[in-house]
Amino acid sequence: MEVFIEKDYEEISRKGAEIVAEEMKKKPENFVLGLATGSTPVGLYKELIRMHKEEGLDFSKVTTFNLDEYCGLAPDHEQSYHYFMDENLFNHINIDKKKVHVPDGMAEDPEAFCQEYEKMIVEAGGIDLQVLGIGGDGHIAFNEPGSSLGSRTRVKTLTQETIEDNARFFENIDNVPKYAITMGVGTIMEARICLLLANGAKKAEVLAKAVEGPITAEVTASMMQLHRQAIVIIDEEAGARLKRKDYYKHVEKMADLLKKKK
Ligand code: F6R
Repeated sequence: MEVFIEKDYEEISRKGAEIVAEEMKKKPENFVLGLATGSTPVGLYKELIRMHKEEGLDFSKVTTFNLDEYCGLAPDHEQSYHYFMDENLFNHINIDKKKVHVPDGMAEDPEAFCQEYEKMIVEAGGIDLQVLGIGGDGHIAFNEPGSSLGSRTRVKTLTQETIEDNARFFENIDNVPKYAITMGVGTIMEARICLLLANGAKKAEVLAKAVEGPITAEVTASMMQLHRQAIVIIDEEAGARLKRKDYYKHVEKMADLLKKKK
């Protein structure tokens, strides 16, 4: 696992976007990008939009798969993850909407849809890079504590904590969806690169558990420790509880030195 500790949110967004753009350019014909919603990746998406507008970063051949979607919300519902992605990324870049995939919250047969979603990922060639955030309870996508570490795309019942967290976006708590379709931990682990971002003091404790604690279904993000190419980009606040903080910074400095020598 590579851990980068940056000054602030702006810096993690910039570094995250740089890595995404670099990987996209390696596979200009058929790059497959996994995306997350939530507040964390918004800055990264802003930076990708800037790179598209100012530097011509081309999304026309990129295929995307989002991690999750609420059950019962249509793509044009303001709180749906599909709507979020349109507003924060897709409407501002030259992506072919036919290549955009967000789980269908209105699927008549959600279980069958989940299997179909897995198939679509495989048919696209697998995910090259998956953007991830981390929940306050250590979840990735909607893989709440106790989720199987080998899980696939499926319908999950949301925890009370997540429902309460999300209540601020709805008129009242009764309107918050209780179920979601989410990629499984096993699905996420098959992405060639996992790029996890976190910022703010609120994430410090759980981030330390995910990066340096035991691998456990209680913190599904801890599975990143088993991934062959997991990149974690955090700000100083989110990194405050890491025991090996100084070592991660040293590794980054040494890698920079090596690059300069080349
Ligand atoms: C959203 C998702 C979630 C979020 C996590 C952190 O697609 O997969 O796991 O990444 O809940 O949310 P924020 O970024 O709002 O702190």
